[in-house]
Amino acid sequence: MITFDENKQVFHLKNEQISYLIQIEEEGYLAHLYYGQALSDYSGHYQFLRSNRSFSPNPAGATARSYSIDTLMLEYPGYGYGDFREPAFNLKLANGSRVTDFRYDRYEILAGKPKLTGLPSTYVKEEKEAETLHIYLKDPVAQLTLRLSYTIYADYSAIIRSTKISNESTTTVEVNQLASQCLDFPNRALDVIHLNGTWAKERQMTREKIEIGTRVFDSKRGSSSHQQNPFVALVEPTTTEFQGEAYGICLVYSGNHETVIQKDAFLQTRVVTGINSFNFGWQLLPGAAFETPEVVSVYSATGLNTMSQTYHDLFNQRLVRGKYQLQERPTLINNWEATYFNFNDEKIYGIVDQAKALGIEMFVLDDGWFGVRDDDNRSLGDWFEYEGKLAKGLAGLADYVHQQGMKFGLWFEPEMISANSELYRQHPEWVLATPNRGKSVSRNQYVLDFSRADVRENIYQQMTAILDRVPIDYIKWDMNRNMTEVYSLLLDPAMQGEVSHRYMLGLYEFLEKLTQNYPEILFESCSGGGGRFDAGFLHYMPQAWTSDNTDAISRLKIQHGTSMVYPISSIGAHVSAVPNHQTNRQTSLAIRGNVAMSGVFGYELDLTQLTADEKAEIKEQVQFYKQHRQLLQFGTFIRLQSPYESNDVAWMFVSKDQKEAMAFYFRPLADAAAPFVTLKLAGLKTDGIYQWNDQQITGSELMHLGLYVDDSLHGDYATQRFYFKEV
Ligand code: GLA
Repeated sequence: MITFDENKQVFHLKNEQISYLIQIEEEGYLAHLYYGQALSDYSGHYQFLRSNRSFSPNPAGATARSYSIDTLMLEYPGYGYGDFREPAFNLKLANGSRVTDFRYDRYEILAGKPKLTGLPSTYVKEEKEAETLHIYLKDPVAQLTLRLSYTIYADYSAIIRSTKISNESTTTVEVNQLASQCLDFPNRALDVIHLNGTWAKERQMTREKIEIGTRVFDSKRGSSSHQQNPFVALVEPTTTEFQGEAYGICLVYSGNHETVIQKDAFLQTRVVTGINSFNFGWQLLPGAAFETPEVVSVYSATGLNTMSQTYHDLFNQRLVRGKYQLQERPTLINNWEATYFNFNDEKIYGIVDQAKALGIEMFVLDDGWFGVRDDDNRSLGDWFEYEGKLAKGLAGLADYVHQQGMKFGLWFEPEMISANSELYRQHPEWVLATPNRGKSVSRNQYVLDFSRADVRENIYQQMTAILDRVPIDYIKWDMNRNMTEVYSLLLDPAMQGEVSHRYMLGLYEFLEKLTQNYPEILFESCSGGGGRFDAGFLHYMPQAWTSDNTDAISRLKIQHGTSMVYPISSIGAHVSAVPNHQTNRQTSLAIRGNVAMSGVFGYELDLTQLTADEKAEIKEQVQFYKQHRQLLQFGTFIRLQSPYESNDVAWMFVSKDQKEAMAFYFRPLADAAAPFVTLKLAGLKTDGIYQWNDQQITGSELMHLGLYVDDSLHGDYATQRFYFKEV
């Protein structure tokens, strides 16, 4: 998969779908030649043109005035020695200089993919499924080495990159930026698609033309954030869901991140992605190394659906781990929107009984079971049971739930602390805070300093004391504020620029230990809904709570955007009560069901308040979902019609063997004298014959002729389900 041509000085990373070409240019600079559809060979004809551009310097040692790294497409550009564009790294040397000059030193090609230390990452199951190229660049004056790492799998249209810097000098170097990757594009028109939002409105898709200048997509919140997901796609202006080129760039990291897109005067586009360089400063001691998180860049020649499907498959197969990796996920009932903090035995046991009667497989007890937690002003950090709130306690409830043949899940928010808590009274110094200043509160809580081992150990002991006593099948790991006053008391002043990343390393260490020691537990991550829905968390937790907004119509956009990158089996989606608690909208139970079934399905409402009709409909939904969840959770997901483009929305799922398929049509608002709607399916076998209701229809007809959506659908919030099975 990876070759090096000595004569041409070109590395070719290649599988059946993609090629990636890197050239060692004059004077040992590493140039980017190509990323895109597989090339059978590289003949050497395509070379970066030489041109004497004014004000673009020639690097030390170069003889031709036409050679400048200011105009070349580069693999890992720096600042200070001739390239004035966005750098991929920024280092402060002991003498105060920020000038470095890294040139090619050597390479190695490894079978498989080495692990990153302490960071989530994609992996191999067998060495032969991937190859990794390490290219070493050296600055002999500063005595620093950069190692650029590139992995290519045989079966995925993706390149996975990360960077490591080693300090071989005798002085400390401050790393102010070390991107995971830089991807340069030649002169071409490109759009960027990014996923932005806020609480209850996560991963809204925005598409904009990349113009000359610099555009930054980032988070400084201490988490990957509701506001800007660590993902962008660069696409051609004509790219759609089904055609055109698309380059996805996804950082596998849950903390502060940045992607800088810069289009220069020669219309070349540079995309630099990594940990956010804002306020970042890592003291790289003599002999030490620093490793970045990785970026998964997916290439598609056939539109956005293919790009997303590659992410879904690669993440499900080689990022997510553990017992539930490819296992069907249980349907659940969560009591949050049913009761909030205000629950008692009658309510909780009543919900459990009703859930059982409806066929739901798991009960999740949300916030409010610990300390004296009757509202969100107190008790975070006190992970011991709220005595008397439930007469038989957690163990009694868990036993009861298990006796009903259901699983039992519990909510935690381990990284947080309330001022009004036992833990804070004992350890006020354990929170992120700057000395001699007040501390910002958010939801009336502080953030525990997870960069500290003593803090992590305390929380780990508290959590596992519960897990070792109560039989728990599922954990919802929440995180309900962003970080302010980022400062750690244990670190020297010079190291304060490390706190945000040290927090992430501490958190990842905790998650690794917890998930490895409790391999039977299904974990779902959460951060006020989907504020930390990222590929880093997916490595530890196979699913995430997508949004606190459970309104079916809002969810169309949220889940559509989320599906750009993240597998359907990770997208937690619940049917909730109407009027909806976030939007006050009154939608049909049918559309709430179909939207939630397009994710990991559950309910979040007071089941004891249902009418007989609602009970019957929910029973049918649960049964239907269980029957088809392999297809819905792990089938190939296809976006047919976007909620960002029209009132009508359609999604589809096709089994990997293409023997069955399901489509959902959603029509949020009704119209008088409405036009007929034809749904053209996708992803089926052209000559396969599919049973649909009492008809047998070929795949080609379903895909090209399509089907009429039922014109008897009436009223707002209408929806239709279509199920096809090959005969
Ligand atoms: C966050 C979560 C909710 C719920 C509450 C509990 O907002 O996203 O689902 O768990 O916390 O406080």
